[in-house]
Parts: sequence; structure tokens; C-alpha cells
Amino acid sequence: MSETVLGILASGRGSNMQVILNNIHSGQIHAKIGVVISDHPTAKVLEIASAAGIPAVCVERKNFATKQEFEAAIAAELVNHEVKLVVLAGFMRILSGYFIGLFSGRIMNIHPSLLPAFPGLHAHEQVLAYGAKVSGCTIHFVDEGVDTGPIIMQQAVAVLADDTADRLAERIIKVEHALYSKAIGLYCEQRLCIEGRNVKIIEG
Ligand code: GAR
Repeated sequence: MSETVLGILASGRGSNMQVILNNIHSGQIHAKIGVVISDHPTAKVLEIASAAGIPAVCVERKNFATKQEFEAAIAAELVNHEVKLVVLAGFMRILSGYFIGLFSGRIMNIHPSLLPAFPGLHAHEQVLAYGAKVSGCTIHFVDEGVDTGPIIMQQAVAVLADDTADRLAERIIKVEHALYSKAIGLYCEQRLCIEGRNVKIIEG
């Protein structure tokens, strides 16, 4: 089976991207990262990609008159680099139906809560403000809603009595790192099957 080409979209420090790259190098994920795209010129994720010799591209929203033109520029980069799976790794923008239609069933996201609870921004703060005792992370395919697409994998993390958003985030990010590579690996082995809202994992 040939390597699946990943296109990573990220807005920030890129720790998920770094772990995905490490797990490609170690052979856990049979893929290659074709391009890393950020909407922030100073995002650390672009430095990590460049240092690893991966095409690193900044596409800034302010350089485009409309959201569709901005997304079309991102899509053009993905297509140019022959990307099969779009991996959102801390990409802090909501993608429109136009973009999602271009890569239907081929966009994955990671969110730091147990969806459908606490979607959107500041998930950890939401969890603590609500008083939830369990949080975690979710990997899902992206649909047109905000964090509403078919769920691929989830893992719970206990909320502790003295948690701050930062402490909870620190424990959850470790779980994110392991889970995202597993989900991407399954996709690359063609073991994920979307049936309506359900994602079936085909036994290996
Ligand atoms: C991760 O915690 C990811 O789950 C979150 O952003 C962080 C990115 O960290 N994504 C979202 O909140 C999306 N709604 P990273 O840049 O170190 O990978």
C-alpha cells in the first residue's frame, strides 16, 4: 500500500504535528506529510515543519477579501501537494461547507473534550466552569457543524479537584498525542469506514 499524503493545518505550537511526524519516522503511521499550512506567520508549527524539510506555508486570512478565497488558497496548496487526508491539529478556524465539500470524508480534527460536550473554543475552561468530573479528547471527521462530525476515537481523562485549565490541558494533550496518531494510522491502513454518524473500525 502506498504512503498516504497528509496535509496538516495548524495555528499554533504544533505539538500534535510533531508527534505525528515522530510516529511517521518510527513507522507507526504509514504516511508522509506533504505540507503544513498555518494561518499565523509566526506559528511554531511552521518552524517545526521547515526544520524537518517539510513544505511549510502560511496562508493568512487578511490577505483575502472573502473566506472562500482564503479557503480556496489553502485547498490549492493541499491539492498541489497531492494531499489525501487533511489533518486539523489545533487549527483555530471554522471551515465552511465549501472547503469541507472539496475534501469530503477526508478531514480529521482533534478536540480537547469529550464531544458532544464542550465544543468550540476554550474547552478546558468550559469543562471547569461546568463542574464536569471527566473530560478527555475526541478525534472526529469534520462536517459542516462546529465539532459535530462523526466520532472516530475518544479517551477520557479525569478532572481533578484542584485542576486549572492549564493543568487539565497538560494531562489531556498527552492523551491527544497518542490517540491522534492511532486514528491517522487507521485511516492510512484504510480501516475507517464512515456509516452515517458512525465510524466503524475494521479489524486489522
Ligand atoms: C490541542 O489541544 C487541540 O486539541 C486543540 O488545540 C491544541 C493544539 O495544540 N484544538 C482545538 O481546540 C480545536 N478546537 P498543538 O498546537 O500543540 O498541537
